Amino acid sequence: MEVVYYEDKYFDSLNCLLEEVFGVYKTYKSISDDFELIMVNNNEVVGYLALNKCVDTLSGKNYFYVNYVCVKEEHRNQGIAKALFLKVFEICRELDIAYLELTSNSSRVAAHKLYEKLGFSVRETTVFRKELI
Ligand SMILES: CC(C)(COP(=O)(O)OP(=O)(O)OC[C@H]1O[C@@H](n2cnc3c(N)ncnc32)[C@H](O)[C@@H]1OP(=O)(O)O)[C@@H](O)C(=O)NCCC(=O)NCCS
Repeated sequence: MEVVYYEDKYFDSLNCLLEEVFGVYKTYKSISDDFELIMVNNNEVVGYLALNKCVDTLSGKNYFYVNYVCVKEEHRNQGIAKALFLKVFEICRELDIAYLELTSNSSRVAAHKLYEKLGFSVRETTVFRKELI
């Protein structure tokens, strides 16, 4: 198994994972400033996370918004999510990223344990969204 950057040859395999875990699909090819990491096992995508590079308007600092963290059910508790995040931390050091941010539903107990273990702390805030299209 290895953590690699997403390439379009993994499009179908990634969509199997995303559909299985979140019921969503990737619908577009990668664009610049988007970073996607996958864990590949025998050519199958068994883990994934997406990074969006953002800039804090006031401080000018770069940060990543982390999205769609997931591991295929039968491969959980084997350190795959942790390995994906260790690669993220490496990328952050290379790109001078000041912090990571993500949101997570309170029902996602395993994910919260993972994030705490990796040094994330909870910010007291509520996420709002207004759907436009
Ligand atoms: C959350 C998720 C990504 C974790 O992936 P994983 O590969 O199983 O996690 P890892 O094996 O790398 O675990 C790393 C650490 O997270 C914690 N952890 C992970 N799963 C856990 C669980 N079920 N219960 C308690 N702690 C857990 C542990 O502290 C673990 O460290 P340890 O093995 O040293 O104890 C996976 O369970 C998943 O895909 N869940 C469904 C999707 C989801 O909820 N995504 C998050 C959206 S915000």
